[in-house]
Amino acid sequence: MATIAVIPGDGVGPEVIDEALRVMRRVSEIDGIQFDTVPYPFGAEHYLKTGELMPAGVLDEFKQMDAILLGAIGDPRVETGVLERAIIGGVRWTLDMYINLRPIKLYADYLCPLKDKKPEHIDMIFVRENTEDLYIGMGGFFKKGTADEVAIQQMIMTRKGVERAVRYAFDLTRKRGKRKKLTLIDKVNAIGAMEIWTRTFEEVGREYPDIERDHAFIDAACMWMVKNPEWFDVAVTGNMMGDIITDLGAAISGGLGIAASGNIHPGQVSMFEPIHGSAPKHAGKGLICPLAAIAAAQMMIDYLGHEAAAARLDRAITKALTSGEIRSLSTSSGIGTSRYTDIVLQHLS
Ligand code: IPM
Ligand code: MN
Repeated sequence: MATIAVIPGDGVGPEVIDEALRVMRRVSEIDGIQFDTVPYPFGAEHYLKTGELMPAGVLDEFKQMDAILLGAIGDPRVETGVLERAIIGGVRWTLDMYINLRPIKLYADYLCPLKDKKPEHIDMIFVRENTEDLYIGMGGFFKKGTADEVAIQQMIMTRKGVERAVRYAFDLTRKRGKRKKLTLIDKVNAIGAMEIWTRTFEEVGREYPDIERDHAFIDAACMWMVKNPEWFDVAVTGNMMGDIITDLGAAISGGLGIAASGNIHPGQVSMFEPIHGSAPKHAGKGLICPLAAIAAAQMMIDYLGHEAAAARLDRAITKALTSGEIRSLSTSSGIGTSRYTDIVLQHLS
């Protein structure tokens, strides 16, 4: 049995999480896996009502869970960043989820906005370092609001943080066994301290002679993602650049309607979520595509060690997207939130 904390969160979060839970119930019937889900109310509504963001005691409780499934966090009634840093950041940092794993996979031709690119061209995995870099919250203002204002935000990269991300990426490249190519993405030509990535990549890479080592600067990597996405197999990068380029990755593989991610600490509780945000303007209308949340549940099931069940669900998502019934994942597709799930469930048996 797996115990899973469920945080539906804000905006469209609750709607897409309901659908992911429906799929999980079906998986548990088919595969005989028991999911014990424990709901948590954190998000804007709860904060506005109680002033509570993410209590330390709950983070302790999460340590006893097998996984966390998160919908989305963010609400226009709360100052930008307050909820995101406390809830998403709080979980990522406190539970030391040092990998943000983001598969970029094109399921069907029509989902790709790029000319002449097909599923065989877009199938890569990004390993984004998830606990350091510009995200650590060390910064502030001096003479705020005056003509002499100074704003500062510190970026840290530790040997430990870089090495564990790089090592995870090499292991993954080997386990995946696709092209056995790992690309390091950085901006060491402008940000000199990023040389810590260059050296670590080189040193750790020597332990993986079977893996081809490749390097790209972030700006060029963005260009290649659009021009030649087939060049990528697995890529490893820092937190900030990884955040940005994986949205680009989502865009070339069907958009935020399908992109999922895992915040992982190998061997410990890890959190799975769609990459999309709370999309407040679409909330409560039953139009949002839940496939990203379903794909996040799929990653979670795989992480929990139920590889066959996860592979079956992945095939069902692929069939749902290629069966002809779905032609778009946009809120104007005419399909509707629960119908998307129905189509996945039809193919899951
Ligand atoms: C993501 C999100 C978060 C991030 C935000 C909400 C803090 O964009 O998960 O990619 O930047 O990590
Ligand atoms: Mn992001």
